[in-house]
Parts: sequence; structure tokens; C-alpha cells
Amino acid sequence: MDKIKIIGGNKLNGKIYISGAKNAALPLVCASLLTKEPVTLKNVPALSDITFLNSLLNYMGLKISEKEEIYGGHITKTYTYQADEIKELIAPYDFVRKMRASYYVLGPVLARFHHVEFSLPGGCAIGARPMDIHLSSLEQMGAAIEIKNGYVIADAPQGLKGSHIIFSKASVGATCNILMAAVLAEGVTKIENAAKEPEIENLIDLLSAMGAKIFGRGTSILTIEGVKELHGATHAVIADRIEAGSYAIAAAITKGKIELINANPEHLQQPLRTLEKMGVTVEEKENSIIIDAQNKTIFGEDIYTDYYPGFPTDLQAQYMALMTVAEGASLVTESIWENRFMHVPELCRMGANINIHGHASAIIRGVKKLSGAPVMATDLRASFALVLAGLVAEGETIINRVYHLDRGYEHLEEKLKAVGANIERIKEPD
Ligand code: UD1
Repeated sequence: MDKIKIIGGNKLNGKIYISGAKNAALPLVCASLLTKEPVTLKNVPALSDITFLNSLLNYMGLKISEKEEIYGGHITKTYTYQADEIKELIAPYDFVRKMRASYYVLGPVLARFHHVEFSLPGGCAIGARPMDIHLSSLEQMGAAIEIKNGYVIADAPQGLKGSHIIFSKASVGATCNILMAAVLAEGVTKIENAAKEPEIENLIDLLSAMGAKIFGRGTSILTIEGVKELHGATHAVIADRIEAGSYAIAAAITKGKIELINANPEHLQQPLRTLEKMGVTVEEKENSIIIDAQNKTIFGEDIYTDYYPGFPTDLQAQYMALMTVAEGASLVTESIWENRFMHVPELCRMGANINIHGHASAIIRGVKKLSGAPVMATDLRASFALVLAGLVAEGETIINRVYHLDRGYEHLEEKLKAVGANIERIKEPD
């Protein structure tokens, strides 16, 4: 298994191109199951999560072609998906266990083919991750759902029917899945307490370009008038706000200055305001964000993770890495996931002073310096927090389990190296 070696201490300066958002691309790719015509997606990030999802769709019978194109001033991937000859209506365990978000096939396949079998993914490192909202909503839309041998088997022989659904939590995954189910359902579906993340707006824009009728974009009440069929479309994945926020911290923690090209500041308002309160200068441009921490003192600050537009849970670990070397104390409260402090013991091994209270709060008291160490993380964002700690730590940090980073950070070492980091991948046989 590959490792990443970082020698800390370099200030990072320059420009980083922000890639297409993984969490936007995953549902967009699955939306191609809703039509027999080709769906072309631009600015798709080159990440292992996308490769896994493509292999599942390929198994189901989709034709997938790939090319490189300039988008947003840099080379990106464009994929075309065509679901005109679907062979399998099943997402087997071997695919789903590698990539949870394979659950995005559920809504579109059931809506278009009236049957789907889907291996339940189970929990993961950050929490139990139930799917009750996805399943009960589909039942409300007329699906018969049975759980057998670890699989969800869903049938709607007469097709799905529009319904008035009130989500108990503003789940991102359930909002995407039920949107993709509702666009081909008979009649009107109303979703209350829908998630409002920018990735959902990106999905609504693709579905609308495919002929869907969706009202309430950007709000927590979505109304969908079902149509008989959808057609092909060409659409671009939005820039990854979590990747942008992660590199903003790389600038802050090394007291450098980085311009995040293609990042959309509108999607990062809470994290940017937090950075300013911590003492960093933030300049928002139309298509980029400049993070300047040169000669600045970084102060502690509190964060509370919440549904969008609240502070994103997917940036909690990275901000905590910055807090470990800030002046004074910070309080982090995690309200979305029940087990999202797995990075804390690893940061402490590097010299951080963090106390966890219960399972939702952590107090971080800033220390003068961190020191490099061999570390490993159990999830994607926690792994990036360790990269950040490594960038500022004295000496050498070795990050194990690099496959987590490969799931969500395109060209990680190249991007960091280009702004001055001393970072390299150590290739090792699996
Ligand atoms: C997505 C993101 C993930 C991010 C999360 C919250 C993707 C691929 N992943 O995950 O990176 O951390 O949003 O912003 O986009 N819940 C239920 N029942 C359900 C579904 C969810 O109780 O049926 C709960 C979850 O346990 C959690 C909360 O709702 O406490 C939010 O989860 P959700 O928004 O669904 O997260 P994901 O879509 O899985």
C-alpha cells in the first residue's frame, strides 16, 4: 500500500486548480441511468470513487467513454454515459462495499425499470450511516421493499407515484435519490426538509437539462412534476468546495498565500468567515479565492458542524488541524456524524493537545509546534487533516492508508508540490 512522506516547514505559495466535486459527480453519474440517450459530464475528477462507480455502471450495462478536455483553464476528464441497454438491475455487495455512494443507483433504476436490487452498504468509519430515509420515502412513493440476504429488493411494477414526503433529517443522499426517483414518477412529489447543499443544485440543473420539472432549487422544499421520459444532456460538475476548503487550510497552517482557482466563494461562506476570525485574510473573487496567512498570527475559534449553509462536517478535521497550532483554545462540535474524531489520537501523536468530551465535542488548546510521526487515518477528510499537520510539523511525517486520499483529492502530491510542499508518494506493493 502506498504511503505519503512529508517534510514539514515549507510555506506554501502559488495557485492551485480546484477539481470537480466528488460529491456532486457521484449523483450526476447515476442520473445517466434515467435516460437511454447519452449524458456527457465535464470536469469529472480523476478519483478512485469515480472509477469504482464507473465499474458498477459498466457491470449494469452502461456504455462509458472518456476523454481529456480543457475546462476552467486546466486538463479535466469528460465522460459520456449511455444507459440504452441495461443488463443488470442489481448493485452487488462487492461494488457497494468499496463505494458507499453506489446507493445513488437506487432511485433512478427503480424509477425507470420498476425494480432494483441493492446491497446495503452497512456502517463506515464516521458513523452508522442508516438509509431509512431513502427507503421509507420510496415506500411512500409506492415501492414494495424487502430486505433479504443483506440486499434491498425494491419493486414498483406500476411505476413510482408522486407523494408528499417530509424528511426527518436533511439528508444529502436521500435528497439526491428521491429527486432522481421523483422525476420519472407519476404525478407530483413534494420533498420537505430537503438538503440544500450546492451538489444538490448541481444535480437539479442536470435533471432540468434532461427535461425534468423541478421547482424550489436552493430551498428546503422541492416540488417535482414527474415526466414520462428524460433525454440526454451535457453538463459540468461544480468545483469541489471541500477540496478548496482543505487547500485554504494548507495556506493558513503554513502561513503562506494560495489562490484557489475555480473555487466558488459562495459555497464556502461559513468556512471562509471562520478563517477570517482566526486571523487569515480572505479575498473572494468571481472565480477564485485568495487565502493569505503570511506574517499572520492564527487564533483559536469555535466551529459547529451543520447542514448547508452551516459549517460542513467534511471540513471539520482540516480546521481542527489548524486549531492545533493556533494561539489559544478552540471548541469543535460535530453535529452530523456520531464518530468523526478518529483523527484526534493521530494529531495527538504529533504533539497536539486535544480533549474529546462525549462523542460530539473536542477542545483544542494550541501548541507551539507539532512534530512529524508515522500516522494513519480511517477516513478521507481525517487523512487530509494529517497531511496538513505534516506540512507544518517539524521533521518527517509518513501518512499510511493513502487509498483514503485517492478517493477524494485529485493529484494531491502534484498540487501541493507545485506550491512548495516537500511531499512525495512512496510506492509500495499491496
Ligand atoms: C454526504 C456526503 C458526506 C457528508 C454528508 C453530510 C456524499 C457522497 N457524501 O453523505 O461526505 O459528510 O453528506 O454533509 O455526498 N441519515 C439518516 N437516515 C438516512 C440518511 C441519513 O438518519 O436514511 C443521517 C445520517 O446518519 C447523518 C445525517 O442524516 O447523521 C446526514 O447524512 P447524509 O446527508 O445522508 O449524508 P450522506 O449523503 O451519506
